[in-house]
Amino acid sequence: MEEFNVGVVGAGYVGLVTGACLAHVGHRVRCVDKNEARVAELAEGRVPIYEPGLEELVARGRKRLSFSTDLPGAVRDSDVLFIAVDTPPGEGGSADLSSVGAVARSVGRALAEAERERAREKPLVVVNKSTVPVGSGDYVSMLVREGAQEVDGGNVPYRVVSNPEFLREGSAVYDSLFPDRIVLGAEKRDALDTMRALYQPIVEQSFPTQLDPRPRDAVPFVTTDLASAEMIKYAANAFLATKISFINEMAALCELVGADVTNVATGIGLDDRIGARFLNAGIGWGGSCFPKDVAALRAVAREYGHEPALLDATVSVNERQRKAVIQKLQRDLRTLKGKRVALLGLAFKPNTDDLREAPSLEIARLVNSLGARVVGYDPVAGKGAAAMLPDLKVVFDPYEALAGAHAAVVVTEWEEVRSLDPEKAASLMEDPKLLVDGRNVLDPAAALDAGLLYRGFGRG
Ligand code: UDX
Repeated sequence: MEEFNVGVVGAGYVGLVTGACLAHVGHRVRCVDKNEARVAELAEGRVPIYEPGLEELVARGRKRLSFSTDLPGAVRDSDVLFIAVDTPPGEGGSADLSSVGAVARSVGRALAEAERERAREKPLVVVNKSTVPVGSGDYVSMLVREGAQEVDGGNVPYRVVSNPEFLREGSAVYDSLFPDRIVLGAEKRDALDTMRALYQPIVEQSFPTQLDPRPRDAVPFVTTDLASAEMIKYAANAFLATKISFINEMAALCELVGADVTNVATGIGLDDRIGARFLNAGIGWGGSCFPKDVAALRAVAREYGHEPALLDATVSVNERQRKAVIQKLQRDLRTLKGKRVALLGLAFKPNTDDLREAPSLEIARLVNSLGARVVGYDPVAGKGAAAMLPDLKVVFDPYEALAGAHAAVVVTEWEEVRSLDPEKAASLMEDPKLLVDGRNVLDPAAALDAGLLYRGFGRG
């Protein structure tokens, strides 16, 4: 394999996972971040985010993986430079590109300075890894050029590539090493050739691993223009969010007609054209990607005078799901005043401590504003949630949360929640012992037998 010198700007979630995986498959990687404390921590092998397998990968890749604050050094020494900085939601939901823009300009300056010392043999490939709106590739290109012009006005050799990631929190390492596809967008062929060579070990899966690879011969590339690559990322996330909102709409109808949405999902999911995944009905989607990306795509649509009717509906169905929890509580508890409600799971999904756009936060706020006491359980996100919601009492044992509670809501389907003992739960809870299963993961019959008042989402 051809070994590359890779720079990754932004040692956050995406940057770290990308850097660690590229080092693991054989490249020399330098992760750069302006946060000195973070760099120092990483250099000592401590990974500041919770992601299964990442710390081990960083530790094992030590010979080929380094951390620094020196952006110009990374520009000078890299063949390929990933930009993986944050793109938080800005005005009107559109992605805020100020970090990406600042990095691009610095890259341009550093590139021009490095060229003065020694001309590069091949253009620097600048890769947009952050989720950025359509047109950002051109924007980055412009800023690199402007940065270079600030130094000497000369032409510096670089190419811009869009290479969106599709990794899920909790399985980010796996998703990076065994992707479904690798999407590359560029205006120039040579940049695509470099990127193909960079990803060759991942395509051929020629690296040591203890993980079970996805059963396939080789990972397909999708090579296209910049705008299409950028659009693929947004379209993929919007589609998945819509798929979830669709099944949630079906769940609402199932409740009305007396059908069970879990059986409906199985029945439709066996059709290859539909597919079984992402058809779990419940309190809806959250996290750092779906809400942000769907909002950004809606903002793009409006910029062009297009009404994104389907995306609007995807969002409003999702908002309705949170409120449905409150309605279910009110139906069986009547008033929430003076009641105790347990939230089982607080993170936006299992195997992460991430609370961004977590349904638990809004549900806790709503329940609290209606006069009930809220106690939350989560194996890892508890501390973070307590810091965000002063009225939330946080415990680290699910049964402690259930003790004395009139109602419990399954918010995050952690293994500890899935394997809840209904008898024990019922013995600890107060009447009416209401269990709102916001993820449809518990067995309704077992819950009812134990004396719990079970309410799922769309289960008849
Ligand atoms: C997602 C995409 O899956 C990933 O490809 C992209 O790069 C980033 O966004 P992530 O946010 O980590 O990844 O979580 P994911 O596992 O996709 O779940 C997103 C949300 O949808 C969670 O809140 C989850 O609880 C919810 N969800 C998922 C459902 O409500 N029902 C489902 O059937 C699936």
